Amino acid sequence: MTPALSSRGQGLLDSAPMPEYLHAHFDRLDGGYDPDDNQDGYIGLCVAENKQVWDLLRPRLTAERPNLPHEAVCYDEMIGSRHFREQLGEFMGRTFLGRQFDPTQIAVLAGAGSVLEILFHNLADPGDAVLVPTPSYAGFWADLETRDELRIIPVHTKSDNGFALTEELLDQAFESSDRPVKALLYTNPSNPTGGIAAPEEIQMVMRWTERRGIHLVLDEVYALSIHGEVPFVSGAALRPSLGNHIHVLWAFSKDFGSSGLRCGVLITENADLMRSMDALGYWAVVSGDTQHVLGEMISDQHWVDGYIETMRTRLRESYVAITGALDEAGIKHLDAAGGFFFLCDLREFMADQTWEAEDSLWHRILENANVNLTPGSACRNGEPGFFRLCFATEPTDVVVAAVQRLGKVLS
Ligand SMILES: Cc1ncc(COP(=O)(O)O)c(C=O)c1O
Repeated sequence: MTPALSSRGQGLLDSAPMPEYLHAHFDRLDGGYDPDDNQDGYIGLCVAENKQVWDLLRPRLTAERPNLPHEAVCYDEMIGSRHFREQLGEFMGRTFLGRQFDPTQIAVLAGAGSVLEILFHNLADPGDAVLVPTPSYAGFWADLETRDELRIIPVHTKSDNGFALTEELLDQAFESSDRPVKALLYTNPSNPTGGIAAPEEIQMVMRWTERRGIHLVLDEVYALSIHGEVPFVSGAALRPSLGNHIHVLWAFSKDFGSSGLRCGVLITENADLMRSMDALGYWAVVSGDTQHVLGEMISDQHWVDGYIETMRTRLRESYVAITGALDEAGIKHLDAAGGFFFLCDLREFMADQTWEAEDSLWHRILENANVNLTPGSACRNGEPGFFRLCFATEPTDVVVAAVQRLGKVLS
């Protein structure tokens, strides 16, 4: 007889944290679009990745491999080698944080997702609540609710005022909670809208969390992926000190198109929190060779500056081409200035304004256009009908082809 799984293991089988649109994506990858052999093939526009920069990264990442030092294959500090954290402090300070952080204020773990899971393990207890403004990155629910056993309370912003976050909405969510609220998790630039918050809004959430006596986690994983006119300002640049309650998150996954390398970074001035991160770091270490390769890459200022400039130019060109194709196809979309996605407003193509109608439109697009958009329900939107389109998952001409297919199905 096969011994049973634990109730925790069984629970994961019964309600897997991965949403349906991602299952559909991975299932279809084998039948992917090919301009020569498979013109009707699958085009996934549902994953926030920038695959338009690999030609820039590849020579740089491979060039570092032959110089791998012995230390890189041995045990080191679990939250990142001191040398790598020094390199990060300098690079992040120079490119977006607005000031340098000491290596003792920096922890490195296997991707932003691991940082989030371990960070929230240390900020809140099972059953506690965390506020997340929506539309939101879909993965926060898996990161915070699966093993940390927290409960996310969505703060639904509204389409009719451009999904603006206000103090009133935060107050309402906080006061409606039937459990202790321990933190606000705030993403800027926003995934999925691609909006960039004004410094006044960031100041507002900083003051609001202080007044409420809760932690503020600023997810800035798209800090460098800026393609519009609106400048990005990091929360770290707005204060001489983050104090013990504000923590900043960044990763290589997005700005350096390296989601598979798994390297996320936490900046915090809270020494106790840092010690608790260190205590759990062993289970999410970034491999030594990855730290070495990424550390050498970000230390080459000249290369970094050229990379950021080219990456932004490409994002801008791609954004213009794809929003132009949507306009031609008569598909409404919202403006974005950061990240590599934006929301399409597909409400007029739904029989009624319900989640069932959104779900059936998502299926219709997937089955008839063989294109996968992230449904609004996965982003925990407050209103049905807003789908996220990721425009850098494929070369621009392929994304344009996907939009044309979308146009045909919707018309
Ligand atoms: C806002 C945000 N935070 C965190 C993550 C997780 O990133 P990682 O792949 O580094 O775990 C993502 C990934 O899409 C994201 O969009």
